[in-house]
Amino acid sequence: MGCSQILISLSILSCSALILAGDFRQDIDIIWGSNKAKILENGQAITLSLDKASGSGFQSKGQSLFGKISMDLKLVPGNSAGTVTSYYLASKGTMWDEIDFEFLGNLSGDPYTVHTNVITQGKGDREQQFRLWFDPTVDFHTYSILWNPKTIIFYVDGTPIREFKNLKTMNVAYPEKQAMRLHSSLWNADDWATRGGLVKTDWSKAPFTASYRNYKVQNCEWSAPGTNVSCGGDGPNSWLNEGIDENSMKRLKWVQSNFMIYNYCNDAKRFGVGLPTECAVMN
Ligand SMILES: *[C@@H]1O[C@H](CO)[C@@H](O)[C@H](O)[C@H]1NC(C)=O
Ligand SMILES: *[C@@H]1O[C@H](CO)[C@@H](O)[C@H](O)[C@H]1NC(C)=O
Repeated sequence: MGCSQILISLSILSCSALILAGDFRQDIDIIWGSNKAKILENGQAITLSLDKASGSGFQSKGQSLFGKISMDLKLVPGNSAGTVTSYYLASKGTMWDEIDFEFLGNLSGDPYTVHTNVITQGKGDREQQFRLWFDPTVDFHTYSILWNPKTIIFYVDGTPIREFKNLKTMNVAYPEKQAMRLHSSLWNADDWATRGGLVKTDWSKAPFTASYRNYKVQNCEWSAPGTNVSCGGDGPNSWLNEGIDENSMKRLKWVQSNFMIYNYCNDAKRFGVGLPTECAVMN
């Protein structure tokens, strides 16, 4: 993802800011259900759909060690029970790292569940789930992931909903060695997604469609392990140093006290005697 591409896409931003306004024709590969993924509006939008035969999905061509990505999504409307729209960053291999957003559909009028997880070196079990303060199927809303050496922050419309800090000083594994790609897919998960699998996908409503647009990436140029990483400006205001300020922390607390429906750190029963180490200091 070179500067020329950036300049074509976004003339106002300087090259050093390294913000890539995405063109789906150039930036992603459709890797599943190709006839069900449609790139529209000159590469500015994409839709994924799901029917009984298959779902569909794409992944970014580029990968990056650290990054800030955001995308506007409009989720499957109406009766979306049993469907899952995933939107996540992941590396490869059996010791992979992953930062997950998953949107679990529901019956018409019942709320979606936003599921988040952080997997480090193949180990997850760090789920937090939320309701949204709006209907995510009516309009596009922005879902972002900031991943830098200090912290991982999940945002909805610019409001942080979750933070996973780098606590390697407390021996908590943190994803900082493997580059990740963006992945997204729409698939059938009616064995578990809606009310724990009680509500099945209603195939008479198929195809189900989720829409994406306004893909933005701030990333590090990265080609292979051991090569130098360049992230386009690492000053104090760079996304590489970004964290949660006081105001954003208030927003995060607001979300967590009003809209969080599951937090692994409150699930002592699940973990037996000890909660995961990071739970002691988590926001
Ligand atoms: C669907 O709606 C029901 C009823 O409000 C709720 O219990 C459930 O958590 C919702 N979400 C999912 C993904 O099942
Ligand atoms: C990587 O960075 C170091 C230090 O800045 C430099 O000496 C080296 O030549 C760079 N290597 C490559 C492949 O660019």
